[in-house]
Amino acid sequence: MRLPLILAAVAACSHPSPTVYVSLATSDVPAGTHVIESADGVAVVALHEDQLDALARRMHEDGRCGGFMAHDTEADALGDLHVAKENPVDYTLDRAPVVAAVVPRLDKDRIATTIRELSAFPNRYFQSPSGVEAAKWLQQRWRSFTSRTDVTVELVRHAWEQPSVVMTIPGTTRASEVVVIGGHLDSISLGRSAGTAPGADDDASGIATLTEVARVLLAADYRPARTLVFMGYAAEEVGLRGSQAIARDFKQRGVNVVGALQLDMTAYQGSEKDIWLMKDFTSAAQNTFLTHLDEVYVGATLGLDACGYACSDHASWHRNGVPVSMPFESRMRDRNKKIHTRDDTLETSGNNADHAVKFARLAAAYAVELAKGQLGGS
Ligand code: BES
Ligand code: ZN
Repeated sequence: MRLPLILAAVAACSHPSPTVYVSLATSDVPAGTHVIESADGVAVVALHEDQLDALARRMHEDGRCGGFMAHDTEADALGDLHVAKENPVDYTLDRAPVVAAVVPRLDKDRIATTIRELSAFPNRYFQSPSGVEAAKWLQQRWRSFTSRTDVTVELVRHAWEQPSVVMTIPGTTRASEVVVIGGHLDSISLGRSAGTAPGADDDASGIATLTEVARVLLAADYRPARTLVFMGYAAEEVGLRGSQAIARDFKQRGVNVVGALQLDMTAYQGSEKDIWLMKDFTSAAQNTFLTHLDEVYVGATLGLDACGYACSDHASWHRNGVPVSMPFESRMRDRNKKIHTRDDTLETSGNNADHAVKFARLAAAYAVELAKGQLGGS
């Protein structure tokens, strides 16, 4: 249902920072802010860029994470009111030997080391020099995994300082079909956005988890049939901005993404079950596929929960009609309360990656069973 466009004379004020268009829950619209359009509990408003930090801070107050998505254009924000439809995908499991060869090689200590390395940057804020350095560091780490020239590791530039990092392993027989495994490389310290923000759990853990999957697959000379892409998104903490830019670019170029997996927070075990599949802003069909992968290859205990809002980059794919899943470290109500503070360290998550490695196993099974293909080029 499309509500009539309420014409917005967004009052020009003396504010120097550029306008951004934000989609958010109708109930989260800041008092006195003009709503451009709303549908199904989601509203679009125009804000100034430098109001985003305050919005993010307000969302987090009292553990009340509301979530929002920032867009460069009004048309793009309005697109958020109407989510695209997914195409059906064949989720047959037929790669047991490949998955069985890969999963035992995943090393939890390497995941822990990567979390420590990433969380040693003062912060990975999207506008700070160390946020840019962290992206370059990740590019070098991924590049070190293979000398194969068909595998590319690129920095994707954005309208802000921090680039996203994208590693592409081209598919052999179905290269036009793309499988994405992603997490966000930025971190934030609320109250002082570019202050100390180790972001160990949020989301060095997700990046370290997918980094270990990439390392093991490349060490085994994995040749996917579909193109497999690893992504470290920039600027998630300020409105899912890197992932939106990439998802939009893929859509404009007609790239066929058959599935995406988002790893955002994998280190802190807050609940009795291991992996919680978020039901909202995700694909029910792909979530069922993940449940089967877990039963057959991982054996982690699974639960279902919901963020209740567009809490991470999976929402950027979801709104573009890409089947996406978000396996999460705990129930929402048991979440790590130290994120976005100087105390989001690996120590807070038990000083190990025992929990994160379960997500690496699931992500490796997902990569192989969705991207198909063989090891060793055979
Ligand atoms: N990793 C969090 C999302 C999250 C936090 C999921 C706690 C489940 C439990 C993510 O990095 C984040 O902070 N998202 C923001 C919203 C975003 C649109 C700025 C949030 O949760 O407020
Ligand atoms: Zn966060």
